[in-house]
This record gives sequence, structure tokens and C-alpha cells, in this order.
Amino acid sequence: MSDTQAQPRIRPDRKPGWSLAMMVAPAYARDPRPYFEELRAGGAMRDELDVAERKPTVLVSRYDDVQATLRNARVFSSRFGAGAGGLGNDRPMIPLQIDPPEHKKYRKLLDPFLEPRKVARLEGEVVRLVNQLIDCFERRGSCDLVADFAVPLPCTVFLRLLGLPLEDLDLLLRMKEGIIRGNGEIDLVAAAQARAEAGKLCYEYFGAALDRIRDERVEGLLLDLMDAEIDGERLSRDEIMDICYLFIIAGLDTVTDSLCCFYTFLAEHPEHRRRIVEDPSVIPAAVEELLRWESPVSGVARVATEDTEIGGCPVHQGENLFVLIGAANTDPDGIDRAGGVDFDRPANRHFAFGGGIHRCLGSHLARLELRVTLAEWHRRIPEYQVPPGTELLWTPMLRAVLELPLVFPVGGSDSRRAE
Ligand code: HEM
Repeated sequence: MSDTQAQPRIRPDRKPGWSLAMMVAPAYARDPRPYFEELRAGGAMRDELDVAERKPTVLVSRYDDVQATLRNARVFSSRFGAGAGGLGNDRPMIPLQIDPPEHKKYRKLLDPFLEPRKVARLEGEVVRLVNQLIDCFERRGSCDLVADFAVPLPCTVFLRLLGLPLEDLDLLLRMKEGIIRGNGEIDLVAAAQARAEAGKLCYEYFGAALDRIRDERVEGLLLDLMDAEIDGERLSRDEIMDICYLFIIAGLDTVTDSLCCFYTFLAEHPEHRRRIVEDPSVIPAAVEELLRWESPVSGVARVATEDTEIGGCPVHQGENLFVLIGAANTDPDGIDRAGGVDFDRPANRHFAFGGGIHRCLGSHLARLELRVTLAEWHRRIPEYQVPPGTELLWTPMLRAVLELPLVFPVGGSDSRRAE
């Protein structure tokens, strides 16, 4: 890959001017790529402290360094912040915050539920749902992509998969916003408080939901989890709750974020949009390329289990790392012509779904939803734009827009509904 030897790599001290907190700035959320470029130029580095009590974080941004960190789960542990507030959880989320060797047994149990063959069976239902949602606004000539589509689509698919009632969606979305974004509180104490409250609610909700699903034998992934065995043993109730806690975050936010990113890009890049309309066979490659370019999940957290180094930067035991997968995905030293969007890219070795043992469990489901959406939407609504003068409000890290107004010609599409 890159000739990294030529660059200064040893940065025992913090690099002034860079802080994890900068990454929550609106400009970063809208387009993090210029920041990624600057970060990569400096190599792995400690950030500048912005809050007195916060420990410095090592920022990892180059393709090779990100790959090395994700692949070494023994030294770069995922057991960060678990139990001590973090995302409001009392115990580590399973399997995200579980290290090897324990992690393997959970993936062995969970992988079959979301493997490609199982997920492919959902395609008809996803096609129907996408078309039903488009039916609601197609004749209006406008929509808010977020409220009218990007939130209800993945959430409905997910609740049905789990066996949870659709009426609970608003409550679950409120819990998810509290856990992930601390209800949007800027003040760190207030955000932690919001997370703790949302976390408590989440445990209460799943406590009651699991009882009902068990008593009424409601079909779905949660019942399957209650019936499942690892080496002859059932999962404990706490273990199932800790899986549910992660599912709420992973299942209810990331596809919404991806749709926000994709549609903002496609509305602003008519040549790429037309390519999808004219040649739908390009859609699977377009999904991969937009995931790479947009990297809706900007980065993931790790903590060092021993003194080590990454990309020449010494890392001490117990230090936190933030692994910027978005920066790696746009690193020209890791990916050819990384600075542009190319649907004809022959291979796409991106980290949008992470890498190593924690690679996304829901990637096949996410890809299905994104693929079906691009196909059905562009068949029915080939032309659309963000109304001129619209200011989009981006949220950072898990990159989404709060609202995405789109306008499009009425009746100019192929209005054939799915069978
Ligand atoms: C486009 C949408 C998605 C993106 C971009 C995405 C991204 C990611 C990333 C980057 C990781 C790695 C985290 C780490 O290494 O710390 C991850 C893990 C995970 N994702 Fe996704 N995800 C998506 C959709 C989903 C969906 C729909 C589900 C649930 C059905 C899901 C479930 C999970 C789980 C359970 C893990 C933890 C895996 C482990 O620790 O072994 N994800 N995801």
C-alpha cells in the first residue's frame, strides 16, 4: 500500500488543533472528507483535550492503520465505556463490546439469523414496503425523505423481524435518540443524563416485551433468541437484553443514516442518479460505492489492552482510540482513486461495515434495503432535487440529516407498482 516510511509517524504528544470534539461540528458532519485528509496527513495521533476530565483519544485515520486496529481485537478491545455510562447501558452490549474468545460464541449463535439466505427471503416484503411508502407521496411531488421514508422503512423491517409491534415504533425511536444522541444535548452532563434515562427505559421496555413474546410465542428473532442454545445452554435473560440494547442502536439508525447520505448525494449529483435510472444493474456497485464515500458510520471506538503502537504512535494500556473508518475509506493510499465516486470500481474494499471480528452482523439486511430502495425509487421517481436554498442540518458521527426535503415532477415516472 502506501509508502508510509517517508512521513513522520512518531507523535508521542498530542497534535495541537485536533480534538474528538471538533468532529461534532456541523461542518464536519456535512462533509468530513477535508478533515479526514488533514488527519491522514498527520498519521495516528493523540487529540487535543477539549474537556478537562476527558482522557486524550488516539485518532486512527490511515487505511493501513485502521485495518491493523480493527484486525487486532485482542490488543484493541471493544470493551470501551461499557457499564460506566457510555451509551446508558449497565452491561456491555452483545456482541459489540465483547472481546475474543467470548465474542465468537455469540456470533456463532447470531450469524445464522441474518445470513444472506435468510435475509434474501425478506426481499418481497421490502419491495412491497418501499412501494407502499412511495405511494404515500409520489403524487404530491414532494416529500421529506427522512420522515416519509428513511425512518419508517428500516424501522418497520426491523420491528417485524424482531416480532415487536409497529405501534411501539415512536417509543423505540425516542429511546434510540436518547441513547445515541443524548437527545441532542450539547452539554455533556445533560447528554449523559438523557442517555441514562433512555437506557433505563430500554431495559424496562425489553423486559416486558420479552415476557410477552415468550408467553404468547410471538414469532420473530427475539423468540428465536430465547429458544436458541450455545453448546447446549440457553442465553440468560441479561444476555438477551444486552443483544436487544445493541439491536436498537444498530437496527434503527444506521440504514436511516445511509439513506440520508445516499439521497443527499444523488440529489446533488444528477449524473450518478441518471446512471442508476438508465442502468439499474449498476445498483449493487452503487450501494457499495456510496457506503464507502459517505461512510454513514464515521468511526468506531476501541481501548488498548496493553502498551502498543499504531502507525508509529505509541498507545498506552487503557487509552481510548477512535478508529475513523470514513477516513480510511477515502484514503488514496488504501483505495485507488479514493477521492471520487465511481460506480464502475472493480473492487471496493471499504470499511463502512467495520472490519475484523466485529464486522457488521446486519450488513446483508442493510444492503438488501438499500438495493431495493434505489431500484424501486428510481423506477418511479427518476428526477428529484433538494429545493434550492434549503439548509440541511447534519448530525455527526452517525451521519444523518434531520430533514431532507425533496421535490420531483409528478407523473413523469414509470408508475407501475410492484406485483
Ligand atoms: C448501512 C447500515 C449499517 C452500517 C453502515 C453499519 C455499520 C456497522 C459497523 C461499522 C460496525 C462495526 C462496529 C465496531 O467495529 O465497533 C457494525 C457492527 C454491528 N452491526 Fe451494523 N451497520 C449497519 C446496519 C446494521 C443493521 C441493520 C443491523 C441489525 C440488523 C446491524 C447490526 C450490527 C451488529 C449486531 C454489530 C456488532 C457486531 C459485532 O460486534 O460482532 N447493523 N455495524
